[in-house]
Amino acid sequence: MIDAVKTDPFGEVNAIDVLDLASLEGRAEKVLGRGEFGYISEGSDDGYTMRRNTTAFQDVEMLPRVLQGVEKPDQSTTFMGAKLASPLLTAPIAGNTLAHSSGELGLAKGAKEAGIMMSQSTFASKPIAETAAVSDGAPYMFQLYMPKDWSYCEYLLDEAKNAGALAIILTADSTLGGYREKDVMNHYHLKGRLANLEGYNSGQTGVGAGGLFKESMQKLDLALIDKLASYSGLPIIIKGIQHPDDAVAAINAGAAGIYVSNHGGRQLDGAPGAIEQLPAIAAAVDHRVPIIFDGGVQRGTHVLKALALGADLVGVGRPFSYGLALGGWQGVKAVADHLKMEINIAMQLTGCQTIEDVKRMKIKTRFA
Ligand code: LAC
Repeated sequence: MIDAVKTDPFGEVNAIDVLDLASLEGRAEKVLGRGEFGYISEGSDDGYTMRRNTTAFQDVEMLPRVLQGVEKPDQSTTFMGAKLASPLLTAPIAGNTLAHSSGELGLAKGAKEAGIMMSQSTFASKPIAETAAVSDGAPYMFQLYMPKDWSYCEYLLDEAKNAGALAIILTADSTLGGYREKDVMNHYHLKGRLANLEGYNSGQTGVGAGGLFKESMQKLDLALIDKLASYSGLPIIIKGIQHPDDAVAAINAGAAGIYVSNHGGRQLDGAPGAIEQLPAIAAAVDHRVPIIFDGGVQRGTHVLKALALGADLVGVGRPFSYGLALGGWQGVKAVADHLKMEINIAMQLTGCQTIEDVKRMKIKTRFA
């Protein structure tokens, strides 16, 4: 008799050294397959919006205050009642096993060890319950691509609720996938499992990147927000908001949070950098609901700028994928810890003792 081989769900891990977030991409390219790297790193069309997400931070300046008596800044915060060591979120990312065998389990453990918020995609490669078991009470949100099939939606909402999700993030900017040439050139189709779809109908493996969306509804409207909230009893956060009027309409329709994002420049190319839209959206939201922001964040100073312009929680996407690829959960934690270190320096140097001080910081922007 041969004993069953016990595989470690977290796979090979490695406490990577992180110099900065930007250089992780080149390092990850060396360990990922061409198709996988292409899928993670690309933007849609010409990649303008993806690049602008990061470069737009150069058009935001922070006015430091001195003699504020700041010592050992405290970057802990709360979001929707959850205590966090830092206002950071692992932005929803599809099919994490394409980066590392541990997939969402590695992401969840890295986030938990770093004390930050984790979010899991509908298109995850590990089931909701398995991921939540790793999070084990650590703050967790579920990101929903609205399925065409309402009973599948109920299944996802039930799983997310049982898993203790704090909120449902409804992604509203992806009624189909953006046009991504690297996937075409590489003949790349997301090879990871769609664990949540399998869990529901025990079908579908190796669904292509475009095919991901064939289970999703194209015609999204405001009435969905109430339907999802009523069924799940969970707060519904709308992701992919770029226009202040959409933020207001979503709140009026029952949204409990607004998530400002252009999907990492993977959907509509030609949209502005996400940070450019944040001030007007924050003004329209006017503190009625919390705001999550993502788009091009690579520095602790970017996190401060987003908070000062109205965000309550800041999402980071690709750098966590690269950390996961390079070191499993320890790589994810190393990326978060590095960002926390940069945030700490930026808080000290801007004269901010707390995250509330960061939110009150004076900012100059070069965009309207
Ligand atoms: C993407 C979808 C799956 O950006 O979120 O690839």
